[in-house]
Amino acid sequence: MPRLDVSLNRLHLANPILVASGTFGYAREMQAYVDYSRLGGIIPKTVTPLPRGGNPPPRTVETTAGLLNSIGLDNDGLEAFIAKHLDPLRQLGTSLIVNIAGKSTAEFVAMAQRLDAFDGIAALELNISCPNVSGGVDYGTNPKLTAEVVREVRGHSRLPIIAKLTPNVTSVPEIAIAASEAGADALALINTFQGMAVDWKRRKPILGNGIGGLSGPAIKPLALRIVWQVSQAVKTPLIGIGGIQSIDDVLEFLVCGATAVQVGTANFYDPGLANRLVDELSTALESQGLESVGDLVGTLQYPRPVVAAASCATPAASPAGR
Ligand code: SIN
Repeated sequence: MPRLDVSLNRLHLANPILVASGTFGYAREMQAYVDYSRLGGIIPKTVTPLPRGGNPPPRTVETTAGLLNSIGLDNDGLEAFIAKHLDPLRQLGTSLIVNIAGKSTAEFVAMAQRLDAFDGIAALELNISCPNVSGGVDYGTNPKLTAEVVREVRGHSRLPIIAKLTPNVTSVPEIAIAASEAGADALALINTFQGMAVDWKRRKPILGNGIGGLSGPAIKPLALRIVWQVSQAVKTPLIGIGGIQSIDDVLEFLVCGATAVQVGTANFYDPGLANRLVDELSTALESQGLESVGDLVGTLQYPRPVVAAASCATPAASPAGR
């Protein structure tokens, strides 16, 4: 049997299949469908320092091969998370990664320090990329702020740190380099793409908040491209996210440079998927004669530097002056 365990610096997982924040509730909602102990890990909905009511409805709308959401980090706040959810989550027999978001570096640090007191948390995922709140995504669009928050949390917490990055920037590698140099153990790529759905008859956006974040199969090619680009820019282990709904999708992310993946939108219509992917991963590696997940990571045969793509647009490359 191939080895499925993976290490992302200080974070060690039994296998690389995680479920993404905000798509799996607090796990107990999925009890009937999932053997938690066979997952690589669980990432519950983002926790903020204080309760948040979230954005006005409608908060989700299905789009072609995708889901647009503007939840607005609706959650009961850190103390309620600790009181109601932490114990059941850490008894599930899988790695628990707590996703946190603050409005300032001080808030991120205070949350990390509070969570540091508890055993049974495998890592913190810093949500510096939510497109639906002000004072959250700003971090992930600014390399200096990204570095500051990662460095400060790392300096005040013993837990491994995952920085979850936004694709809504000109250069994700630039932000990834900042997070890596500041000490992130891993980078989760990517959060949702800003988008809109419109009811043209009413001349209105469909989401109550107007703009939302797009996830699902529609974004997989975009996510693969970003994972590959970032893999060329940093040595920090990557976690691929974006439209995963089959074992081939998982393998594509691994080949492009991800060491682990998060299943997100597909959990809403196929909650047993993540469990099945673990079995299918083992079979897929075996069929390729591979001994471990690591044998596949970053093996894409495309060793061109990221900037080389620009040369396609030069006049010399265009046939017969077209
Ligand atoms: C939300 O709560 O609006 C989505 C969370 C996220 O995209 O980080």
